[in-house]
Amino acid sequence: MAKFNVYVTRRIPDKALEILRQRCQVEVNPEDRVLTRDELLAKVAGRDAVLCLLTDTIDDAVLAAAGKQCRIFANYAVGYNNIDVAAATKRGIFISNTPDVLTAATADMAWALLFAVARRVVEGDKFTRAGKFHGWGPLLMLGQEVTGKTVGIIGAGRIGAAFARRAKGFDMKILYTGRSRKPDFERETGATYVDFDTLLREADFISLHVPLTPETHHLIGERELKLMKSTAILINTARGPVVDEKALVAALRQGEIWGAGLDVFENEPALAEGLAELDNVVIPPHLGSATLETRTKMGLVAVENILAALDGRMPPNCLNP
Ligand code: DGY
Repeated sequence: MAKFNVYVTRRIPDKALEILRQRCQVEVNPEDRVLTRDELLAKVAGRDAVLCLLTDTIDDAVLAAAGKQCRIFANYAVGYNNIDVAAATKRGIFISNTPDVLTAATADMAWALLFAVARRVVEGDKFTRAGKFHGWGPLLMLGQEVTGKTVGIIGAGRIGAAFARRAKGFDMKILYTGRSRKPDFERETGATYVDFDTLLREADFISLHVPLTPETHHLIGERELKLMKSTAILINTARGPVVDEKALVAALRQGEIWGAGLDVFENEPALAEGLAELDNVVIPPHLGSATLETRTKMGLVAVENILAALDGRMPPNCLNP
């Protein structure tokens, strides 16, 4: 019996691919780079399933190019703003994502960024390497205490909630805002629901955990940055376009806020003009889920979704309404 034909748009950890290969004929993009639009259109043609990444734009033309036999595009990410889910639904193609398995790693990264900015870890590291450290100084690179401060969480979904649980360990006051109140989350973490502007005004540190949608595009812009404390630190491990990066650079330059930790960028991988020159930002290259354990689990979840769809079952992480 002919095996199913699956395309993988970029190499992922081997374990998941090995499982896929037991049941399917698998072709993987051999180069460690994003496919061009033309390559993507050509490569998906005739496949039964495609494992795609957040860096692949899956619109109606790509779905059409895949063909009528195609059952699923399984995104190797929890975010799926790169996919036109409505178009896929019209064409009868499943779309899936990889929730849960990357929650801890992403929440950890938000904390890594918060500490790195508050305690000036990266700036200090550069200083030492540049040979500028001439001995301990009482006023050398003073940062901000994290323990006991107020943290504001925008979006208390899976990752926001994991971020809040970690805040408890630092005796912090936790504020949150989002579409609705979450009584279980409040009971578990002691978090207080406040409106958006109150959170912006009162939080010492603000961490973004919302998906990118038309409603959250530029959720943080000039107005919101002005409402924040001049000592505030903004953390973004969600999606770049949630923040107006140009407005952020201006606010950081003018000292309207104290610093920012950004794992994601508005026009990734490009950076807003001036961002990389600022000392008060820490800017890793979208590494939120980047541990071997998590990226392996994401692969396993994506493959589970593919195999379910190929078996004629509903993928466990189906995103079609
Ligand atoms: C996601 O999954 O959406 C992250 O941004 C990358 O792991």
